Amino acid sequence: MTPRLDQLTGPAEVGSLYLVPTVAGKWHGVKRHWPVIGPKHSDAHCLNFEWSHYHIDPRFIWAGSREELDDQFWRLVAASPLMTSERINPDGLPAPVWRLRKCRRVGNPFARDLLNLVVSNGNQNWKCHFDEWTSKQARHDGRGWVCPHRAVPLADHSPVYGVITCPLHMLRIDVRTGVVLPPLKEAVHDA
Ligand code: FES
Repeated sequence: MTPRLDQLTGPAEVGSLYLVPTVAGKWHGVKRHWPVIGPKHSDAHCLNFEWSHYHIDPRFIWAGSREELDDQFWRLVAASPLMTSERINPDGLPAPVWRLRKCRRVGNPFARDLLNLVVSNGNQNWKCHFDEWTSKQARHDGRGWVCPHRAVPLADHSPVYGVITCPLHMLRIDVRTGVVLPPLKEAVHDA
């Protein structure tokens, strides 16, 4: 039987099929069932982003050969969610539906660069976010750590050198202890 992502006790494997939460909506002009991570939410606090949105799961989208190497595309995926707005999805976004998808990569290839970028350019919104969550303890749901920011289960995400970076807003969680680590540029490079 094909496993659901929310039943995994370890990272999703590239090349394997999973049942994945998807949301029907328009993203950058393309309407389809997009794979998503986490709940619909807004980020008015700290991140100053009021639109209600879902984050697209980069592991399960087909990007094509060009986009696979294209930083701009992956930057869009990381920084531009599936959004409710009068212009883009004026009827709002429905609840997720589980659909079969192939895992194509371990995560967004651009995520680490984006994290370095927002840290090194001193973005105050992101500083507020990281200041608020650094050193907090994540809870364990029996399968893996749960990001303390939006309660996103991270059991199915791959750690890199002992750190899981939450794909939504880039909190870095120590896989041994569940403590949220600082977003230091040096630490990111070490990973
Ligand atoms: S949900 Fe926001 S950093 Fe994890």
